[in-house]
Amino acid sequence: MILRTAYTCIFLLYSYHCLAQSTNELDAALPEPRAYIPDSQYLDFVYHDHDELTRFLRATSARYPNLTALYSIGKSIQGRDLWVMVVSSSPYEHMIGKPDVKYVGNIHGNEPVGRELLLHLIQYFVTSYNTDQYVKWLLDNTRIHIMPSMNPDGFAVSKEGACDGGQGRYNARGFDLNRNFPDYFKQNNKRGQPETDAVKDWISKIQFVLSGSLHGGALVASYPYDNTPNSRICRSSALCAMFQTYSAAPSLTPDDDIFKHLSLVYAKNHAKMSRGVACKSATPAFENGITNGAAWYPLTGGMQDYNYVWYGCMEVTLEISCCKYPPAYELKKYWEDNQLSMIKFLAEAHRGVQGFVLDPTGTPIERASLKIKGRDVGFQTTKHGEFWRILLPGYYKLEVFAEGYAPREVEFIVVEQHPTLLNVSLTPSKRNEGTTVPFYRPLPLPQQHYRPSSPTTYSDSGIFSTISSGLNSLYSNIFG
Ligand SMILES: *[C@@H]1O[C@H](CO)[C@@H](O)[C@H](O)[C@H]1NC(C)=O
Ligand SMILES: *[C@@H]1O[C@H](CO)[C@@H](O)[C@H](O)[C@H]1NC(C)=O
Ligand SMILES: [Zn+2]
Repeated sequence: MILRTAYTCIFLLYSYHCLAQSTNELDAALPEPRAYIPDSQYLDFVYHDHDELTRFLRATSARYPNLTALYSIGKSIQGRDLWVMVVSSSPYEHMIGKPDVKYVGNIHGNEPVGRELLLHLIQYFVTSYNTDQYVKWLLDNTRIHIMPSMNPDGFAVSKEGACDGGQGRYNARGFDLNRNFPDYFKQNNKRGQPETDAVKDWISKIQFVLSGSLHGGALVASYPYDNTPNSRICRSSALCAMFQTYSAAPSLTPDDDIFKHLSLVYAKNHAKMSRGVACKSATPAFENGITNGAAWYPLTGGMQDYNYVWYGCMEVTLEISCCKYPPAYELKKYWEDNQLSMIKFLAEAHRGVQGFVLDPTGTPIERASLKIKGRDVGFQTTKHGEFWRILLPGYYKLEVFAEGYAPREVEFIVVEQHPTLLNVSLTPSKRNEGTTVPFYRPLPLPQQHYRPSSPTTYSDSGIFSTISSGLNSLYSNIFG
């Protein structure tokens, strides 16, 4: 573990702070995480059904009470628990000032490689904590929430060896959970499903800084936006496949540099992904193993756009196997291909800027609205007044708004070696000052299909939607 004293001078437009603080950091000097030595006594490279998965998680949380905590965020339609395992040196309590991150596997029930790799990731973390400096650093400074399966009902009816096809993709009512979230660009009229509602509630309660959603059926890291304001002609995977009208136009977020970077971290630490070789001759090849979601094919109601737009959580969709449900004997190879990626990706939560928004007495201000100037997707402080934003090295301005306080703009720099620590204090506003937030900030209404102001209005009716909904299931297997 490296301890470095970081002197970070923060220039404020209205006043001036200079911080001198000692901070832990994920330094280049930290050795690479070691290879995992699988221990078949506890976890084999085979697929685990829901009961076996539950037993493994329970046994692990009992065996490693200081490093793990198991909770369920709700139940699937058929009553299966949606398990989440926290792995951290502080499993039961958020560490103030330190980020929470997550992985979600198996949102498509017939894409279970991620489900199994996440079990092995848990096993790897708990068995390496005392022997691997990198893992120890990561777990001492991060709470890692791991949901191996968001769609246990779909998994239950999926078939090992089925590389394509849609059986098991959907939840028990036939809904595609990665089309079931509120959408930034389009009205999403799909009825919210228990699995999706549970996830919405979960991410409204814990402010995740970084997230990966694991899929199969392709080999690529795909980043927001998944949807686009002008996806009318090719508004679904079905139509894109049918007319070969890939909307080549990417739909880029204001944080495109970060999303590309995060995707590259995954792809380049993966054994094959960054080579960008097509899975099959009929499927696209992705330069460097990454793509913008909409440039691949636009979709409405995806989870990653929701995470980013509603909660400022940077989520990337990780497509990790060309075959959706490969035979179990290949799982060990998938683990070896992904191990380093999975760990290095999470460590990216420690890049950028982090700090607190405080009032003049040093009391934290909850739900202050923040925005990096020029990047019009906002984020908020937690109840402890904390915030995090992943940023590449550079010079930035942070805009801070909170009801009853004068708005502020704070300048800061981000360096490569460690996160910039930035505390912002706000002074109470005079009358008629600074109550409106001048940028998009969705309200936290997790249980509703709240539709934020959309760049275009679009009527989701007519022949295109009819054709596409009929063909969606037919063609969905082409894509992750
Ligand atoms: C920033 O504020 C937090 C919360 O009050 C405090 O713990 C921390 O020491 C402060 N950091 C600096 C550098 O002032
Ligand atoms: C957990 O931590 C406590 C306090 O540090 C220690 O006494 C105990 O032995 C630890 N338990 C395990 C299973 O490591
Ligand atoms: Zn998928």
